Amino acid sequence: MPKIPKIHFSQPFYDINEGKIAQEIILSRWVCGGSFLKELEDKFSNYCKIEYAIGVSSWTTGAFLVLKALNIGPNDEVILPSSTFIATANVVSLVGATPVFVDVDLETGNINFEDIEKKITSKTKAIIPVDQLGNPCEINKINILAKKHNIEVIQDTACALGSFFNGEPVGSHSKISIFSMHARKIITTGEGGIVVTSCKHLAKNLKLLRHQGMSLTDNQRKSMPPTVYETYPIVGFNARLTDIQAGIGLVQFKKLKKILKRRQEIIKEYDNFFKNTSNILVMKHGKNSQPNGQSYQIIFTKSKNDRIEMQNYLYKNNIPSKRGVMACHLEAPYKNTNIKLLNSEIIATQGMQLPIHPDLTNEQQSLVLEIIKKSPFFKRNN
Ligand SMILES: Cc1ncc(COP(=O)(O)O)c(C=O)c1O
Repeated sequence: MPKIPKIHFSQPFYDINEGKIAQEIILSRWVCGGSFLKELEDKFSNYCKIEYAIGVSSWTTGAFLVLKALNIGPNDEVILPSSTFIATANVVSLVGATPVFVDVDLETGNINFEDIEKKITSKTKAIIPVDQLGNPCEINKINILAKKHNIEVIQDTACALGSFFNGEPVGSHSKISIFSMHARKIITTGEGGIVVTSCKHLAKNLKLLRHQGMSLTDNQRKSMPPTVYETYPIVGFNARLTDIQAGIGLVQFKKLKKILKRRQEIIKEYDNFFKNTSNILVMKHGKNSQPNGQSYQIIFTKSKNDRIEMQNYLYKNNIPSKRGVMACHLEAPYKNTNIKLLNSEIIATQGMQLPIHPDLTNEQQSLVLEIIKKSPFFKRNN
């Protein structure tokens, strides 16, 4: 039998072309604030069918600047699901506001709509709904609710580039959405993020904020006489995305269709395999949504032990796996004995993620499933 190469849990879909563009930009010596950044921003705004896109150094810095631009801080509350990567909560804390955690639906992994309304108070300034693992949340309902209460919506689309909701791309539905281009995301620049928005004023502010509040961009300064001096109208930060990253992002964007297609094939295979099991729940999506297959998560419904035993068993067989999405309210900075968010806790303690990335071959996926099938922690119906 031919030897199957080592299986990776996730890996960037890179080839020589990302290397070539990075080399070209490096050799041009114009590595930051140049034309590649603008081109990548235009790609995102066109793809997401929204007016403005602002490249930033990560989702986290982008979200931090958005909260700052919206003047959200001490004495304000921001509603978000506990079942998310901790960055979603950390940015709220970092601006001095209070994260208010809401539970999620077990099947979709997304914020529970009814629970949002219960947690709105006079202090609520924003909701950060997450399209968890690329699965679109019920954003239209959330936007309507937020409008009724005069609350901002900052959609955490970190994982959701290429997902669709109601036939339109994620990123097109809300006033503000933020994508991540971290290594585990659909397209990656190593680190990186893009804020997309329909608000001209916010876009302008974010461009200032990411660049130490400076009135002129690097490109503008380059083409102006040296006596046109920049000014600094507001306090800013350094959250720039480099042109080297933007160039890599452009090459990645060209592969988006291919990336999404391969991820769909892998998802279909996993879903088929797990459909007749008696102790495993697979992630579901709404009728009107098309997830991008950023991750594949299952939940062991009968016992916490099944997840741990399965992960140890896979590890011994050289198959990588990860826990399900964490629950922020169980971690030290957010531990609060008064809250119980049952589904978030089930996902964190009984959820498990399996390898998925465009370079995962059919043979590798079959091997993963073959090994799972032999495990005593996997139970088929009859
Ligand atoms: C849902 C979610 N939000 C935010 C982030 C943070 O993104 P970044 O690493 O680009 O700051 C991640 C990253 O994993 C994420 O999964």
